[in-house]
Amino acid sequence: MVAKFLLFFLLYCTTALAQGPAAAPAPAGPTNVTKILEKAGQFTVFIRLLKATQEDVTLNSQLNNTNNGITMFAPSDSAFQSLKTGTLNSINDQEKAELVQFHVIPTYLSSSQFQTVSNPVTTQAGSGDRFQLNVTTTGNAVNISTGLTNTSVSGTVYTDGQLAIYQVDKVLLPIDIFTPKPPPPAPAPEIPKKKKAKSAESPIVPKDISGAFQTVSNPVNRAGSGGRVALNITTYPNSVNITTGLTNTSISGTVYTDNQLAIYRVDKVLLPMDIFTPKPPAPAPGPAPEKKPKKEAPVADTPVVSTTVNTSGAVSCAHYHVVLLAVVIFAAIFSL
Ligand SMILES: *[C@@H]1O[C@H](CO)[C@@H](O)[C@H](O)[C@H]1NC(C)=O
Ligand SMILES: *[C@@H]1O[C@H](CO)[C@@H](O)[C@H](O)[C@H]1NC(C)=O
Ligand SMILES: *[C@@H]1O[C@H](CO)[C@@H](O)[C@H](O)[C@H]1NC(C)=O
Ligand SMILES: *[C@@H]1O[C@H](CO)[C@@H](O)[C@H](O)[C@H]1NC(C)=O
Ligand SMILES: *[C@@H]1O[C@H](CO)[C@@H](O)[C@H](O)[C@H]1NC(C)=O
Ligand SMILES: *[C@@H]1O[C@H](CO)[C@@H](O)[C@H](O)[C@H]1NC(C)=O
Ligand SMILES: *[C@@H]1O[C@H](CO)[C@@H](O)[C@H](O)[C@H]1NC(C)=O
Ligand SMILES: *[C@@H]1O[C@H](CO)[C@@H](O)[C@H](O)[C@H]1NC(C)=O
Ligand SMILES: *[C@@H]1O[C@H](CO)[C@@H](O)[C@H](O)[C@H]1NC(C)=O
Repeated sequence: MVAKFLLFFLLYCTTALAQGPAAAPAPAGPTNVTKILEKAGQFTVFIRLLKATQEDVTLNSQLNNTNNGITMFAPSDSAFQSLKTGTLNSINDQEKAELVQFHVIPTYLSSSQFQTVSNPVTTQAGSGDRFQLNVTTTGNAVNISTGLTNTSVSGTVYTDGQLAIYQVDKVLLPIDIFTPKPPPPAPAPEIPKKKKAKSAESPIVPKDISGAFQTVSNPVNRAGSGGRVALNITTYPNSVNITTGLTNTSISGTVYTDNQLAIYRVDKVLLPMDIFTPKPPAPAPGPAPEKKPKKEAPVADTPVVSTTVNTSGAVSCAHYHVVLLAVVIFAAIFSL
């Protein structure tokens, strides 16, 4: 058998050499990896991945154009079924391609050659710590280990001296794709968008927020832009002060911030001149329906005060605390 193959190989090489480097027609037409897998059955998911990532085209052309050959560990359909649900959906296209490539060694390895292979084996996905694939043999068993998956070869699907396809009953998971990567430098606080305002009240982190407002141009707010609803924010070395003409205060803490929404705590209600000047020394505004800023503002348990504002005033007062298209919210604890 081996002798026959060797003879064939020698013959093939001689004819190839005789014909020159240009023309070397593959003996039986180009090999088609997905066709072979289709014929074998029970590899429909892997075939789908090969096609979706266009790795099938790459492999077929590698087989046609190089003499190194290819070894493939093809996970059976039941291998994919035993993955945690959603595993494939949780990875992006690039990672899908890498996952397929991780199952391919760009060298032909007969099952006996597994005995002398040096670990870790380099796959089409590349080498390195996070793409480790070790192949070891014990007796007749060929074991594979990736650091995340331990399995062994359960059968030979196809082998022709150029292409070897072995069946595995587990998907080989590379560490690189399926182990959480080191956290990014600036992690956003993981506060769900829903009803978190209450609990966020308590631990107010006294972090440096001065940078956030340094370049703001005054007056800044969205209740309107007239002088009578102006809101000015000024940054000092140790504080961020806000003035409306009626209220002077400074930010006393950061309640929440991500790249979309920032909520800062202020300990005074920001009174716009527009609503509160025409009248004599105004008391604090009533709690008002407060429909607009839903749950963001911890407007709880406000003592009821006689009210000099009508509803539309209250709504615009609520707007007044929301600056720059809902990016920044000043949430006051009503203290009067
Ligand atoms: C390989 O076979 C598949 C069907 O199994 C077919 O869709 C595809 O076109 C073939 N590729 C080539 C290059 O012949
Ligand atoms: C296979 O390779 C030969 C020569 O290298 C080329 O002429 C032929 O088009 C290739 N076939 C495929 C399907 O890539
Ligand atoms: C190889 O795999 C078989 C079955 O998967 C297992 O019984 C055996 O312990 C493994 N051998 C090594 C050295 O891991
Ligand atoms: C693979 O083998 C190498 C060399 O023996 C070893 O350093 C490494 O820890 C092994 N990795 C896995 C995932 O088994
Ligand atoms: C794989 O096998 C090695 C040694 O046999 C063991 O230390 C490791 O925990 C196993 N990993 C998994 C994911 O089963
Ligand atoms: C806000 O700043 C603008 C521009 O610097 C200034 O004209 C205005 O008087 C300030 N208003 C208040 C209430 O401080
Ligand atoms: C706010 O501060 C400014 C300057 O710091 C001061 O002129 C003004 O009287 C203060 N207003 C109130 C209502 O405290
Ligand atoms: C900023 O506000 C703080 C506290 O409200 C106050 O002590 C400080 O004097 C203010 N700074 C300026 C320059 O108005
Ligand atoms: C409420 O106030 C707005 C302006 O702030 C005014 O246009 C409106 O007429 C007032 N409504 C009532 C019922 O007083």
